[in-house]
Amino acid sequence: MTGNREEFTVTPWEVRGEVNYERLVVEFGLTPLNKDLYERLTRLAGDTHKLLRRGVFFAHRDLDWLLDKYERGEMFYLYTGRGPSGHTHLGHMVPWFLTKWLQDRFGAKLYFQMTDDEKFLFKPELTLEKTRKYALDNALDVIALGFDPDKTKIFLDTDYIGFLYKIALQFAKKITFSTVRATFGLTESSNIGQIFFTSIQAAPAFIESIITGKNVPCLIPLAVDQDPHFRLARDVAPKLGFYKPAILHSKFLPSLSGGGKMSSSEAMSAIFTTDSPEEVRKKIWNAFTGGRPTIAEQREKGGNPDICPVFHYYAFIFEEDDRALGERRKRCLSGDLLCGECKEDLIKRVTNFLKEHQRKRERARDIVDKFLLRGEQTF
Ligand code: TRP
Repeated sequence: MTGNREEFTVTPWEVRGEVNYERLVVEFGLTPLNKDLYERLTRLAGDTHKLLRRGVFFAHRDLDWLLDKYERGEMFYLYTGRGPSGHTHLGHMVPWFLTKWLQDRFGAKLYFQMTDDEKFLFKPELTLEKTRKYALDNALDVIALGFDPDKTKIFLDTDYIGFLYKIALQFAKKITFSTVRATFGLTESSNIGQIFFTSIQAAPAFIESIITGKNVPCLIPLAVDQDPHFRLARDVAPKLGFYKPAILHSKFLPSLSGGGKMSSSEAMSAIFTTDSPEEVRKKIWNAFTGGRPTIAEQREKGGNPDICPVFHYYAFIFEEDDRALGERRKRCLSGDLLCGECKEDLIKRVTNFLKEHQRKRERARDIVDKFLLRGEQTF
């Protein structure tokens, strides 16, 4: 018995167990994304996005403040990133989809950070050569989503450190070891690069202010596990005369093998952008579902879409149409829709998406240089 408090862990380096997002809102001190704010964002954007509509982005910090600024003519920029520890999977792309939509709707610039340094420091088995290779590979996935080449810059920390270092130092000087240890669960035996790292992830939230010499609002769409970095950055920002970055938090695309977020290390739990149609078929076919042990039982009692990763794949990515999603949910609950049919349909959609994505990914190789920042370059 675990009692009524199910155990789960969410830190930037570990997500374990069945995440209770309502509890996370309280524990992290987030603000739920309520209807009023959602409607305001929809009105300013001109339309809505399914990840917002369906509550995949469920919380924020200071989004209302950012929109106040925007309405008074102060343009914001976007910042997000990726820790390149392997190939990109569909879960990684969830915040990127919304970032792309925000860029399109608001015409915002985007800085995209590849933390090759972070993954080197935190993954014992990874070398700097490997994290660089993954960073450049993952950059193709970012570009393939169609970010505006004139408004988007991607950088590897180890290439862009010349510029980032001066910002990172200002933060590092104001953050103590005991704060970092408490926030991230580091210990006396953590390597010293890990202790410093959060100041590198903070830095891009202030790039535009540094470049332009005046405060520029920054919006960071992210998966909620990354929030602790920006909690610290937001504490320090006013002490350095910067605006606090605003944040939009997403849930995790569930693991295909059931429970928790998808993991890059567990190949069967996630679909990678580089997977072949055969791999997609095998992974979805083997996925955990909200179905019953037998067909007869499922016909009688219905399935449970709320705990089903296959259903979540539709809700997060593969079903645009709300009515069709609602219909699928109803048919599942009533026992009319069996898991086999639902999986087959998803296999088709994922395969089509990846075919197109892989083509764009190859084309991205020709233009990746236009996106990359090095040394002390800016836009
Ligand atoms: N640390 C993140 C990861 O491991 C990558 C990252 C860097 C990031 N900067 C970010 C993610 C800003 C979201 C927002 O994936």
